Amino acid sequence: MKENSNQTVIVLDFGGQYKELIARRVRECKVHSRILSGNTPIETLKEIAPIGIILTGGPHSVYEATSPHTTKELFEMGIPVLGICYGMQLMAYTLGGEVKSCAVSEYGTVCATYDDPNCAIFDGLDSNAITLMSHTDYVAGMPEGFRSLAHTADCPIAAMCDDKRKLYAVQFHPEVERTKDGTRLLNNFLYNVCGAKGDYNMDDFIRRETARIREQVGDKQVVLGLSGGVDSSVCAAILEKAIPNQLTCIFVDHGMMRKNEGDEIQQAFAGKSLNFVRVDAEDRFLKKLEGVEDPERKRKIIGEEFVRVFESESAKYEGAFLAQGTIYPDVVESGLTTGAVIKSHHNVGGLPKDTKFIGLVEPLRSLFKDEVRELGRKLGLDEKLVSRQPFPGPGLAVRCIGEITKQKLDILRNVDYIFREELEKANLKYDQYFAVLTNMRTVGVMGDGRTYNYVVGLRAVVTSDFMTCEYAHIPYETLDATSSRIVNEVKGVSRVVYDITGKPPATIEWE
Ligand code: XMP
Repeated sequence: MKENSNQTVIVLDFGGQYKELIARRVRECKVHSRILSGNTPIETLKEIAPIGIILTGGPHSVYEATSPHTTKELFEMGIPVLGICYGMQLMAYTLGGEVKSCAVSEYGTVCATYDDPNCAIFDGLDSNAITLMSHTDYVAGMPEGFRSLAHTADCPIAAMCDDKRKLYAVQFHPEVERTKDGTRLLNNFLYNVCGAKGDYNMDDFIRRETARIREQVGDKQVVLGLSGGVDSSVCAAILEKAIPNQLTCIFVDHGMMRKNEGDEIQQAFAGKSLNFVRVDAEDRFLKKLEGVEDPERKRKIIGEEFVRVFESESAKYEGAFLAQGTIYPDVVESGLTTGAVIKSHHNVGGLPKDTKFIGLVEPLRSLFKDEVRELGRKLGLDEKLVSRQPFPGPGLAVRCIGEITKQKLDILRNVDYIFREELEKANLKYDQYFAVLTNMRTVGVMGDGRTYNYVVGLRAVVTSDFMTCEYAHIPYETLDATSSRIVNEVKGVSRVVYDITGKPPATIEWE
């Protein structure tokens, strides 16, 4: 695809785990970025004519025959280059410097001293900074024309440059948060060295991505599984903008959504230039779940049934593309970049086997969650939808402990609704909050009679990554109001408890 008039920075990938993060930091600095393989031909780079090139880190040593290498020409095009970690070693090695194995490897945060604070990339930065290091090799001798810019206790050349040729390199990782002012360093490289104009923003992403989608899809149809979550909703919105009237969104209502949620999702896409198909599959799912108590079995059954329903609905669209709202953290969590699988429920490995679909469209694959939300806002999606908290794929099934019945789900939906309403009324914003229907019943007294009804749990957590969390310190008045509304308004509930456990040791969901 031809680049439009925006400036571009190329991130050349040498196997580093942070390549997307580098690309994202460049976008944060309002410069368009593209990731290309480290062995991209020089001719291709010349054609793109980027304003700068960033070489990523990587787990290799330049002296291994199988390591990714590059040629001198990369540094002779007159395009500014910033080498990071392995990228620095590669720059030194390729241009005739010396790379050696460290006597003391540096892993983790290390204090670096910037010896030349007037250098273009250190402009405005403190001369002593915490940096993230992760290396066993180091640059022991610089190529001709270079000077050292920084050192640490164990690394004599922690940064280097040749101003004349606009070649810069740092041994540490400026792209990670743990490096103090790392984004500022990248910003300096982009603006002080590459002459960036800052002409990239979300509008630019929309322009490029819609053009790319149109080119990929042509006049074919696209089918998207819409859950109503942020990612699939934003995916639907950008597809609709790119290829109006060629998109079918299939929303499988498994009957385990929160109160009114199915209708809200349908409403959000009403009146748009797409075909919205709502499959009411509640009975089908509940039947499959009859008598099932084990949470992992529930997940498995729902997952499999979901695929079956989706497949039978989408079979009507033979010769179509399949769209997915995969975002970058999904790709990482599925181990495609690092080999370590953290979660297995994301389908990011390409089209499923034996599929009738002719290809996969993933417009959000390079974006991080906050960028997806920003994109959703730009595309005019409702704020409620864009800032929606995470909701597990199996829905209320993992919040309804023990066997699932329609009656239990309805009780849970009503309790959850009251809890959400009370938090909103009190203007309390937590990262995730919900109710749980425990499978336990306890004795109570209502009026003059004895009751034997369900205990419900309330959970609200504060977290940034959902890998760990603290429980939210909800004011007592709000808990009081919520509890009394629940027992008064929801038949079948006589006791309310608040979960005060963090993660670890607990998890966010109860099942
Ligand atoms: P846990 O309970 O593991 O949850 O602390 C972490 C985050 O993941 C969500 N979650 C799920 N999401 N399918 C999903 O799509 C699941 O089976 C699932 N289980 C938990 C949970 O809501 C929280 O945001």
